[in-house]
Amino acid sequence: MGINQKERPIGVFDSGIGGLTVLKEIIRLLPCESTIYLGDTARVPYGIRSPETVMRYSFENTRFLSSKDIKLLVIACNTASSISLDAIKESVSIPVIGVIEPGAKAAVRATMNGKIGVIGTETTIRSSAYTKAIKSIDAGVEVFGQACPMFVPLVEEGWIEGDISTMIAGRYLEGLKDKGIDTIVLGCTHYPLLKRVIAEVMGKGVTLIDSAVETSLEIKAILSTLGVNSEKKSPRPKEFFVTDSPERFLKVGENFLGKKIEHIKKIEVGGYG
Ligand code: DGL
Repeated sequence: MGINQKERPIGVFDSGIGGLTVLKEIIRLLPCESTIYLGDTARVPYGIRSPETVMRYSFENTRFLSSKDIKLLVIACNTASSISLDAIKESVSIPVIGVIEPGAKAAVRATMNGKIGVIGTETTIRSSAYTKAIKSIDAGVEVFGQACPMFVPLVEEGWIEGDISTMIAGRYLEGLKDKGIDTIVLGCTHYPLLKRVIAEVMGKGVTLIDSAVETSLEIKAILSTLGVNSEKKSPRPKEFFVTDSPERFLKVGENFLGKKIEHIKKIEVGGYG
């Protein structure tokens, strides 16, 4: 592949702000790659929508990012990954990475007792995408899913610790504790921000799997295998697109990303469907 191929950006989409936890890890690991992030803030949340709707949104987001000449597509949203990864892979000629498989692989590596919990949005848990991915690696592992719909608004409000978060986490996670799991997959973009609370509720001896970290490692591996890593030696531009006005994204997003967001534009993706 030519030099231009190497310097093309990595495209990342999410239903909104949450995928910035994935972008953060990509930037940490691959600072010299340029990235284009699309947050579909006008249509968030995806986690309560039907598979058909999530599929349509995913295709529209993919078409928008494809128009930006990206070299690799990351579906940072767990809900979109669980519904549309296979269909999107078939529809484009560049590599596509979702967040489910990397998280599933890491969970199977981590479990000692073969009991894994998966937490995510309602649509992600209902799709059983994590269960299928985990079982395809090791059919003997038991997987227990739990939807935690209130975690997304909690994080968006910035309530990532304190009594209320601990109480809500305690309620959602008590069933998983009873199952004796030793590993829990944070199967939603927002949940890494609740790591501390989740770890406290689950107690010692339960390993937390952060799909964002695992996905960035997988991206690095794929770029190397294909020989398309950027050859630049200094940080490259990070562009942001949102489908609603950027104010809230900027305010909350910097928390998720851990750095300032510049170069942001509002766009319509519906026309790309
Ligand atoms: N990005 C979504 C996910 O990872 C969470 C927010 C939403 O429901 O859209 O599942």
